[in-house]
Amino acid sequence: MNKKEDEFMKILVTGGAGFIGSHTCVELLNSEYDVVVVDNLSNSSEVSLDRVKEITGKDLKFYKADLLDCDTLDKIFLKEHIETVIHFAGLKSVNESVDKPLEYYNNNITGTINLCACMKKYGVKNIIFSSSATVYGEPAVLPITEQCPKGTPTNPYGMTKWMIEEILKDIQLSDNSWNVIILRYFNPIGAHESGLIGEDPKGIPNNLLPYITQVAIGKRDYLNIYGNDYDTPDGTCIRDYIHVVDLARGHVMAINKLKENCGFKIYNLGTGKGYSVMEVLHTFEKVCGRKLPYKIAGRRKGDVMASYADASLAKKELGWEAIYDLEKMCQDAWNWQKKNPSGYQ
Ligand code: NAD
Ligand code: WQD
Repeated sequence: MNKKEDEFMKILVTGGAGFIGSHTCVELLNSEYDVVVVDNLSNSSEVSLDRVKEITGKDLKFYKADLLDCDTLDKIFLKEHIETVIHFAGLKSVNESVDKPLEYYNNNITGTINLCACMKKYGVKNIIFSSSATVYGEPAVLPITEQCPKGTPTNPYGMTKWMIEEILKDIQLSDNSWNVIILRYFNPIGAHESGLIGEDPKGIPNNLLPYITQVAIGKRDYLNIYGNDYDTPDGTCIRDYIHVVDLARGHVMAINKLKENCGFKIYNLGTGKGYSVMEVLHTFEKVCGRKLPYKIAGRRKGDVMASYADASLAKKELGWEAIYDLEKMCQDAWNWQKKNPSGYQ
């Protein structure tokens, strides 16, 4: 392997014990990268990393550490000779962010600033950041391209994504030897097909799929559908659901792009297809083999009517596209939920 390629082989994955992070660790290890995970386990379990090792038959290094703890972060960078960072670590509950804005701004933004300061100190200048379609706010066009202007997120969580994108843009602008890739995820769902890793929300799930799986397993009585009076074919909101393994693969493809010294880039990661809440419920019912109870509730504050990606730029420039359909996403989510009725506990 030549030096150029070798420069990218050791990957620091912040938030690597979490839902998307653990699936990305699998894809990285399968692609022969060395993986170092930093996670404070505030919303995850170390068991996920044991499962990553079980799936891949490979080892990774784990530090239980907080991005707010600069001294520890410094020691990790000193020891590990990191070449590239994939930055997942952050708090992600929309509802909670409205109640705890300071905690969200501090954790997500200060955490990112600490990380970037450490990267700068140790000359690590390649980063992939987990952003979200939430930065588009109420989208100006559908499907949403990366050219679509950023909107106004309706909550502090979304604002942290919005602001971190700007911070990373300014860092790259100040020193063009940095390579920054912003990945704007649409709605990640599903699980690894082994059923060993998956989404393990704490408390009552905010998101649609984990709520549906908990109704199916008998943990919740019924699904609340937030509004059926939108201007969509069946009146319920439309989203672009994407299999978490497809998303994870997107990160490996993004590392290849960093290797081209790509500068600052933004890519949507979605399937390009929108499904309504009702369609998701019916697809899940098909997979689990029975009808699931639901009630129509009022609209949820801050929801946009429809959001789905134009993912053609990622296809053109990263050579990436989603391969799994909604049924496969539901199958894998259900398999994970059945095998782990209480998550990683
Ligand atoms: P997750 O909560 O499962 O993973 C995030 C991980 O970060 C957790 O393991 C948590 O313990 C860790 N963490 C949080 N703050 C930390 C800190 N200060 N120091 C160290 N570790 C910390 O969430 P996820 O669904 O895997 O999301 C990963 C990233 O993708 C997040 O940045 C999230 O905002 C973003 N994202 C997620 C979605 C989604 O729907 N899941 C959509 C768009 C963007
Ligand atoms: C999808 C649809 C709900 C739950 C959020 C964040 C975004 C990103 C992904 C991550 C909507 C409806 C939901 C339920 C329902 N986050 N729904 N009953 O809102 O598109 O995006 O998660 O980091 O930033 O905003 O995803 O899964 O919450 O909702 O009817 O119990 O399902 O109204 O139409 P959303 P979601």
